[in-house]
Amino acid sequence: MYFEQFYLGCLAHASYMMASEGEAIVVDPQRDVEIYLKAAEANQVSIRHIFETHLHADFVSGHRELASRTGAKIYIGAQAGATFPHIAVEDGFQLRVGKMRITALETPGHTPESICLVIADEEKSADSSSVKPWAVLTGDTLFLGDVGRPDLSRRYTPAQLAGMLYDSLHNKILRLQDDVLVYPAHGAGSLCGRNMRAEKVSTIGMERLTNYALQIKSREEFIEQLTCNLPARPEYFVQDAEINRAGAAALSDLPALSPLEPAELKTLLAEGAIALDVRPGEAFAAGHVPGSVNIALSGQFASWAGALLGLDSRPVLIAESEDAMAEARMRLARIGLEDARGYLKGGVNAWKKAGLPLIELPQITVEALSQRLQGTGMQVLDVRREPEWDAGHIAGASWWPLDNFKVAPPEIDRNIPIAVHCKGGYRSMIACSLLQRAGFQNVVNVVGGFDAWQQAKLPFVMEKPVEA
Ligand SMILES: [Fe+2]
Repeated sequence: MYFEQFYLGCLAHASYMMASEGEAIVVDPQRDVEIYLKAAEANQVSIRHIFETHLHADFVSGHRELASRTGAKIYIGAQAGATFPHIAVEDGFQLRVGKMRITALETPGHTPESICLVIADEEKSADSSSVKPWAVLTGDTLFLGDVGRPDLSRRYTPAQLAGMLYDSLHNKILRLQDDVLVYPAHGAGSLCGRNMRAEKVSTIGMERLTNYALQIKSREEFIEQLTCNLPARPEYFVQDAEINRAGAAALSDLPALSPLEPAELKTLLAEGAIALDVRPGEAFAAGHVPGSVNIALSGQFASWAGALLGLDSRPVLIAESEDAMAEARMRLARIGLEDARGYLKGGVNAWKKAGLPLIELPQITVEALSQRLQGTGMQVLDVRREPEWDAGHIAGASWWPLDNFKVAPPEIDRNIPIAVHCKGGYRSMIACSLLQRAGFQNVVNVVGGFDAWQQAKLPFVMEKPVEA
């Protein structure tokens, strides 16, 4: 049996391919499907089956393109209402592929149509008369240290879905043996849950013991906890789920990006267009096109672009090379942001050569920040998510997670310099660029973020913020 996890850090998304006797299955493919075709060729197997564990809301799946390029069948939960040709999967559905047996469990909760796939393989069982489950692909039903959020459906309330999730976990997933491996569709940083662990695989036993959601014994209490303080829900989630219900167009059908001269970009910016600078934060800080938003390719680029700009934002891309541009374009397409207005030909250098101004973003070290905070000349804005803030933050800091940045942070005094920090400096650079764009002067990025603050052994506090 061949089994491989494909982990896409940009979206914290895991997809899978497995094969037996030359026949392969792909589960939850990312939009650019070349990786599966290459892996199939390398392992001399043919992709015959594609499973979607649910209608993904946070990315556009490549199931339709992969099916059209391989002739594979697509399987999806019967409740999905999928409008592309598919096999509707109901509870107990079984597929035999070589020596593998795939059994689907209908596990509504994260979404009504969610399914989990239990994998058994004759080669992995000592006794071929009773083939034991070896792994379960849990989609967004069960994550490592977390479970799927229950508020992405328009048909059911979060409380209804949380109740279904409790039943799915307790009546189906937790009935599996402790040694069954757990492979979810997302990892740390994904907005499909709240606070997932960074590892890529777990076991039922480990989750049974350590996953906070599985420690909650009453259904009522589970619903209560799962429906309060839900993380931000980006607007593009609803759009992506609909794209996936119909199946997305092939990536090769996307039109080429148009090159724009600096003067053209200047005109577009004056008309309100968004320039999206995808260079590393350091390069952005050294000099950028006024009003441009920095979301660097080094982090969860596409998730942030989708959440903060939206699928209909039609940005102009600014990158440091043709390769970086192509990478940005593809990563945006993976979440359904397909319609970019163009790109700045020659990048920031061309802008400079055209005699147009660049602006800088000042940075401050944690040591210098700590000194400045002895006086009253600087305010601190923490843009991390709630669990990170709760685990420790700088005394006196304001808190406004980057997920909320479609609206400017309310408590900020425009007359005092603002030092913005996150965990390591990636999100704070995005936040700084958005604040500059919104007209805040004196924005300063904290180099290395809260990690650097802690490494420098500077003091922090742990009380929860007062919610507005
Ligand atoms: Fe999901």
